[in-house]
Amino acid sequence: MQMATALLKALRVVCFCLTLPAAKTFQVTFQEQSDKTLQVTSEVLDKLGISPSSGSQRGTAADLQAPPRFRWGFFRGAGESVKASPTQQPLAKTPPSAPQPQIKHNDIFKAAEVGDVEAVRALIASDRYKDGKSILDKRDESQYKNTPFLVAAEKGHVDVMSVIHEKKPDVLQQTDENRDNALHHAASNGRLAAVDQLLEWDPKLIDARDKGGKTSFMLAAYYGHVKVMEALFAKGGEKLLTQTDNSGTTPFILAASSGHVGALKALYAKGGKELLTEKDNRGWTALHWAAYSNQSAAVSQLLEWGGGALLNIKTTKWSGEKTPWELAKEKPNIRKIMKEYKNKK
Ligand SMILES: *[C@@H]1O[C@H](CO)[C@@H](O)[C@H](O)[C@H]1NC(C)=O
Repeated sequence: MQMATALLKALRVVCFCLTLPAAKTFQVTFQEQSDKTLQVTSEVLDKLGISPSSGSQRGTAADLQAPPRFRWGFFRGAGESVKASPTQQPLAKTPPSAPQPQIKHNDIFKAAEVGDVEAVRALIASDRYKDGKSILDKRDESQYKNTPFLVAAEKGHVDVMSVIHEKKPDVLQQTDENRDNALHHAASNGRLAAVDQLLEWDPKLIDARDKGGKTSFMLAAYYGHVKVMEALFAKGGEKLLTQTDNSGTTPFILAASSGHVGALKALYAKGGKELLTEKDNRGWTALHWAAYSNQSAAVSQLLEWGGGALLNIKTTKWSGEKTPWELAKEKPNIRKIMKEYKNKK
């Protein structure tokens, strides 16, 4: 009974202490207790897993820092977390409008997208791993579910990429829903500096295929980023010219289908005439694709290189045995270009 009364008393003291606004007062109150009460209080605090247990110990805001055995949040209700640093005012004295650190972007994806390297640095520094997952493993809400690193690569922010890579080198293995890695992203968007940096970190990225079997080189060709193509070619060499995706499509055919004459020229300078008769799985050549996609500049360029013979190359049986000439039937502007070559070899 006596024991219970003492415990009750002690608990009241504990509760009182816990409701005190500032940690500094915490200390003073301890010193004002009688020795006996202090001892009991200490025991109860210990049982509750609360430190400090001695009146001589300073209960400062620093004690609330991780990894504490005791957190104010525990008593304040779920969802409320406490951020305090030894140099800051005790929590309760901090006005709600206290100046925040100079971070313009609190969202890691926004920060990565706009190249706010200081914000990215700060967000990484304040990262609390959740379920063993870092902020750098987070996925955005886009269709492809990008990570912060993939976003930075897409935008070509090499400084942001470097800060992220330094913290978590395995971001190089991250891919999106289409299985595109950072090099795919940088190459698709013509981010030359990012491409160079990625190749320096890991030259093997160049061989990576996405869901459709496309390499970064294929994407650079499709989007017409000649400088990126050259950077990739310098590392990957000749084999890049003949690699095909899951549909048997080559970089040259991809460049023709999107009408990027600059990319066609860069490829032709390396691969020559053989590229003109390359076929994909349906037997379509670059000219088939250029005609079908209504890319008049590409059609002109291909015919200039290959002449009228290209117009009569048939596709495979199952795709209708169509020639580029036939595919252009409903495209008068393409037919007009072709006519000039039709009867010439
Ligand atoms: C093909 O492109 C031309 C412009 O280059 C355009 O006028 C024409 O409508 C396009 N044809 C088709 C079928 O999309």
